[in-house]
Amino acid sequence: MPSRAGPVQSEWPAVYTDRVATSPVKALLMTSEFPPAGFPAVRPRRLRSSPLVRDLVRETELSVRDFILPLFVKPGTGVRHEITSMPGNYQLSPDTLVDEIGAAADLGVKAFILFGIPPTKDATGSSALSDEGIVQQALRAVRKAFRQDVLLMTDECFCEYTSHGHCGILHEVNGRTDVDNDATLDILVKQCVSHAKAGADVVAPSGMMDGMVAAIRRGLDSAGYTHVPILSYASKYASGFYGPFRDAAESPPQFGDRTTYQMDPANGDEAMREVALDVAEGADMVMVKPALSYLDIIHRVKSRFSLPVAAYNVSGEFAMVKAAAKNGWIDERKVTLEILTSIKRAGADMILTYHARDAARWLS
Ligand code: PBG
Repeated sequence: MPSRAGPVQSEWPAVYTDRVATSPVKALLMTSEFPPAGFPAVRPRRLRSSPLVRDLVRETELSVRDFILPLFVKPGTGVRHEITSMPGNYQLSPDTLVDEIGAAADLGVKAFILFGIPPTKDATGSSALSDEGIVQQALRAVRKAFRQDVLLMTDECFCEYTSHGHCGILHEVNGRTDVDNDATLDILVKQCVSHAKAGADVVAPSGMMDGMVAAIRRGLDSAGYTHVPILSYASKYASGFYGPFRDAAESPPQFGDRTTYQMDPANGDEAMREVALDVAEGADMVMVKPALSYLDIIHRVKSRFSLPVAAYNVSGEFAMVKAAAKNGWIDERKVTLEILTSIKRAGADMILTYHARDAARWLS
């Protein structure tokens, strides 16, 4: 009679029994009736054999609660202008934004990040600071309609508001035009305070200015907004994947690029340093952006820092899926859910994604 623990060791092929005992545990395994670690005793397919067993052992589960939907708001009423490269996403006015948020909330999407497209732009992005600015108006309208039933985040940056399309105030250094870090911090703080005052639940600075989190925390606290968290775009790369967004937000740089402030896609250690600094400065949550080409960074950040990590599944990532699906080259639903799951599996606690509405439908 074989024992209840399984066949005795001598019945296993030599390849499993000819092991050298290099530790007491291994020695025990070799002398006991413990099955050897490998095929044929071990068959991973057993736990894939039916949908119900797969449901039991699944390690990562996407939820509509993971999603943050980015939305674009511009002045006017009744505006609903589809963004060509981002099918299903629109430039909206405050009234249609309220409708859009209501429809998304009905699907279970409750968190939003707002981007503003102002009526006029200037060198310092001054319309971003006005309490009557477009994002401020939108915040008040949405807050009035939905109270605390939705979470409103605001992107804190100047590229949409400046005539030159860079993320802050410019100056010249050694004959080269660049964003003036410290001058930009002053207006960034004002923008955040104005958004908090208008009802933002979370501020999310995205300009990659050094010291931005510390400056914003001080500014919010001294204005009485100690309760407003900062989600820092801590490691944001100078990426080619932002193309469609820049059409949507009408924010492409009018000259040069963003490589003097956004990170080099080749760097990983630098992302750890950026995140460490933002955490030290008081960031409540940190973001990795983009998501798909940076899953290793998401994983490293989540492993190293014990705080919530967001990943931005950016416009170019979204547009590629939509374009391929439209051509019939991929299964949109399967690919989208696989992408979102991979971002979560890598370590993201929350995902900013233009797929939020579709994914919410598919998950329900
Ligand atoms: C900057 C900002 C950008 C995105 C979010 N915030 C654009 C940029 O850095 O040029 C891109 C998001 C996307 O591509 O979906 N305000």
